[in-house]
Amino acid sequence: MSGTNGHNGSSEWRDENSHRLEMSKHVAVVTGGARGIGRAVCLAMAREGVRAVAVVDQLEDVASFTDKANERFGRKVLVPFQGDVTDSDFRRHVFSEMQSLYGAVSICVPAAGITRDRLAVKIDRETGEVDLYDEDMFNRVIGVDLTAPIFWGIETIGSVAQERHNKNSGKWNPEEGVQGCIILIGSVSSAGNKGQISYATAKSGLEGAQATLAAEAIFHGVRCAIIHPGFTDTAMVRAMGTDYIAKNVLPQTQLRRLIHPEEIADAVCFMIRNSTVSGQLWADAGWHPTA
Ligand SMILES: NC(=O)c1ccc[n+]([C@@H]2O[C@H](COP(=O)([O-])OP(=O)(O)OC[C@H]3O[C@@H](n4cnc5c(N)ncnc54)[C@H](O)[C@@H]3O)[C@@H](O)[C@H]2O)c1
Repeated sequence: MSGTNGHNGSSEWRDENSHRLEMSKHVAVVTGGARGIGRAVCLAMAREGVRAVAVVDQLEDVASFTDKANERFGRKVLVPFQGDVTDSDFRRHVFSEMQSLYGAVSICVPAAGITRDRLAVKIDRETGEVDLYDEDMFNRVIGVDLTAPIFWGIETIGSVAQERHNKNSGKWNPEEGVQGCIILIGSVSSAGNKGQISYATAKSGLEGAQATLAAEAIFHGVRCAIIHPGFTDTAMVRAMGTDYIAKNVLPQTQLRRLIHPEEIADAVCFMIRNSTVSGQLWADAGWHPTA
């Protein structure tokens, strides 16, 4: 007997977990990990049994968050690091600490992000004075939302490459299994959004970085993908105000509600676990903005 009902060793009877990236073998870095989406990703990874996660954030309470979470999980799985993701010395310090404590860092979710929203050009109707978007502010958003995630991702690929070199492993062979994964955090704004010239530029830039790193990093067995979350219930979105959200955000989604950070974290963990996911995943609650 053969075909779909056959019990003759077909793929129907393969161990369904055999293809999954086994989180317990991996060490992760999550930036923006003390709040919002990053925090939910840290907790989801801990639940999935990751060996350790560096929780990177500039917030002072990053350590109190990790202390409470570790108590809940009954193990020291979250490791706090307080600092600015745009600081290269700080980034190198985080990787060097994690590597000496746990070995190579092989998963990275660089979720730290900021918005500095306003129209690119404003004109005062009374005086006729033209007011342009501030260049320093633009560069700060690019630094945090575009340059930093790329370099935290590159550092992760470097960490895996170094470990593989030390073990005399050459070009990655599929039979070894996937060695690591980077999930960049894009946004529905990557398609362009009025009032978000800096943020939208940074988020669309991440698409090019993802496609390039995906093509390069697989040499070392590391995957790279990007998720585009829709409007998610975090401090970043709450800052827009309840009225603005009710009037301008919710009506333009199919779900008619904000996304929970845990839903994005769930999607991120799926993208890490399932090695066939490449490119982009839109987790946007059916966002369909009008012109
Ligand atoms: N909330 C949304 O609707 C939404 C939608 C799409 C994408 N995103 C993206 O998801 C990511 C997380 O956003 P969120 O909504 O959870 O925001 P959030 O403001 O709740 O959390 C962001 C975290 O990043 C940290 N951070 C910011 N700048 C930092 C820096 N320079 N150094 C270290 N830490 C820094 C903050 O302290 C904060 O804890 C961001 O990249 C954001 O662009 C959010």
